[in-house]
Amino acid sequence: MKLPVSGRTAAAGAVSVVMLLTCGSIVGAAPAPAHGSAALAAAPDIPVANVKAHLAQLQSIATANGGNRAHGRTGYKASLDYVKAKLDAAGFTTTIQQFTSSGRTGYNLIADWPGGDTGKVVMAGSHLDSVTSGAGINDNGSGSAAVLETALAVARSGYQPAKHLRFAWWGAEELGLVGSKYYVNNLSSANRARISGYLNFDMIGSPNPGYFVYDDDPTIEKTFKDYFTGLGVATEIETEGDGRSDHAPFKNAGVPVGGLFSGADYVKTAAQAAKWGGTAGQAFDRCYHSSCDTTANINDTALDRNADAVAYAVWKLSA
Ligand code: TRP
Ligand code: ZN
Ligand code: CA
Repeated sequence: MKLPVSGRTAAAGAVSVVMLLTCGSIVGAAPAPAHGSAALAAAPDIPVANVKAHLAQLQSIATANGGNRAHGRTGYKASLDYVKAKLDAAGFTTTIQQFTSSGRTGYNLIADWPGGDTGKVVMAGSHLDSVTSGAGINDNGSGSAAVLETALAVARSGYQPAKHLRFAWWGAEELGLVGSKYYVNNLSSANRARISGYLNFDMIGSPNPGYFVYDDDPTIEKTFKDYFTGLGVATEIETEGDGRSDHAPFKNAGVPVGGLFSGADYVKTAAQAAKWGGTAGQAFDRCYHSSCDTTANINDTALDRNADAVAYAVWKLSA
């Protein structure tokens, strides 16, 4: 979603007071494993080839549906059906949530992994819609595919975390965070309070990548930073604007949030190119919201690192 600068940080001050009072005790209180450290399962290495295979499928879906996967178009529903079929086959409990926006039906997909304490839900989500001008493979096939492959890795490993895991794919993000707002608005206050953290992944395979971590809940932020420190990859705080993706409705409702981002239409500086490689003076994603946002618009290293970071955080925060 593109927002005017003035609209990005409204009410952020009021929200941060709530965050300070609540986030430490909710996300930070992962209990020690009952059977010692051996019970703490290590997060898997997510095979980037699997993530890329999902991107190839999303590209094919766009190509077969007028070149996009936008809200209200056939390519959106086909994308949702693709993700849902994978999750159903892996043993997730999936729910499609319908809403209407701009006179067209939209859909969120929610996938619950059976088990864990449903009073402490760790959620990871990504928007699955593209803009109408292209296939939306970096924005946001990348996040959608990484979250899908993380969910499938949970199933493959038979991971049974202490907390309950829920994955989400949002509709109509590009129309103004419509799907995620709808989900949050329709949660009872009790169910909202059960969400101990929401992790958002929107654009994580940018072709001229940066490694940005959302500056929100301290525990979630530290989890991502620790992962990249372990890789020896520098990160920066995400500064393009707090309100620009699906974590915003959760944050505004008092849910601790975090996420990753590899950059959109902002230009990579010389200092950033020195630490991350790539091209200074060029946008992180020159194909942002354009017809060239295809499978060619992905940096495999960024996609691999960020997908592994998704899994690391999901494992770590739910243990
Ligand atoms: N889908 C978002 C958008 O179109 C991508 C984005 C841009 C973003 N800037 C961001 C996501 C900052 C997270 C943080 O605007
Ligand atoms: Zn976008
Ligand atoms: Ca990997």
